Amino acid sequence: MDGIGTEMKELLFQEEVQYFNRKFSEVIEQKLQECHNEVLYSALSYIKDTGGKRLRPIICYLSAEAVGGSREKALSTAMAIELIHNASLVHDDIIDENYIRRKNPSNPAMYGEKTAVIIGDLLLGLSCEMLARCGVPEVVGMVSNAISDTAMGEYLEFKLRNLEEATEQSYMEVAELKTAATFMASTEAGAMLGGGNEVEIENLRNYGRSLGIAYQIQDDILDICGETAKTGKPVGLDIKNGERTLLVIHALNHSERPEKEYIKAVLLRDREPGSFDIDRVRRMLVKSGSIDYALRLSEELVRTAINCIAELDDSEAKQKLQFVADFSVERINDYVSNAV
Ligand code: FPP
Ligand code: MG
Repeated sequence: MDGIGTEMKELLFQEEVQYFNRKFSEVIEQKLQECHNEVLYSALSYIKDTGGKRLRPIICYLSAEAVGGSREKALSTAMAIELIHNASLVHDDIIDENYIRRKNPSNPAMYGEKTAVIIGDLLLGLSCEMLARCGVPEVVGMVSNAISDTAMGEYLEFKLRNLEEATEQSYMEVAELKTAATFMASTEAGAMLGGGNEVEIENLRNYGRSLGIAYQIQDDILDICGETAKTGKPVGLDIKNGERTLLVIHALNHSERPEKEYIKAVLLRDREPGSFDIDRVRRMLVKSGSIDYALRLSEELVRTAINCIAELDDSEAKQKLQFVADFSVERINDYVSNAV
């Protein structure tokens, strides 16, 4: 991938997004025709039309190709994992009280929290239907296990909100379960369905692990450094929710006392933090070097991810997997340089 500029990478990535969206729309359209339930109809239209980065499905079928298989074989599983991810976001938006997602009102904002619980369940049901189509029990079992891991990670994160016990280690544990589990399942399933050998499957799973954790760190950076117009999500929601992100954990360990006390007070919701508080916390995170630290760590994880697949035979799919990882760092650097 050396020598390929960010714009070219963006173009290649968008081509993959369009490919997946085309295939995904066909399946969803078919489901919509069978569907006489208003809630399910809206929920399915929402995930079809509002998009998302589609990272998980793309790395799933690229993994199948990277071990010499066909992307078609991995496609139903790629869709299943995208549906699991979307179901988890619907439930996450209830837990996080998030009312903006993908530049649109979130599911709980549109339909209310109780209906959003059911929508998440419906999407999960559809994901099971898609997963079963792969016809390989080991893949079905492994991807189902990733659903439990995701739920455990979300619970652990929720339990650690506002707690002093949160450490970098607990953060990493949460990120691996909550986010990297579906990345790992994507690449592992793709490699299994593509007929990869044990070493290839393991290497691709490890690629998914490092990329998934890097991605969660980047997501946390964007929460405070991004703009709603670009990220499609509110700014500073993690802070408002008292989330002990890597940035916060680092800042509490590396700031002077007054800053530390201020950050803690904002996290503890002594009063509802406004944009002034969020902006002040952001400046403190810059001053303590926490944003820089998180950026460097995510870069390191992306390099690890790329190294994990170095031994795979050269192919266009392998290059694209390298580029997906690479591109995530270029994108986040771009956001941060505009924000700090
Ligand atoms: C987003 O994190 C949330 C997740 C990656 C996982 C959410 C998991 C659950 C709600 C439990 C499992 C549920 C199912 C249906 C599998 P974030 O809040 O850091 O990201 P955000 O900024 O995009 O909201
Ligand atoms: Mg959230």
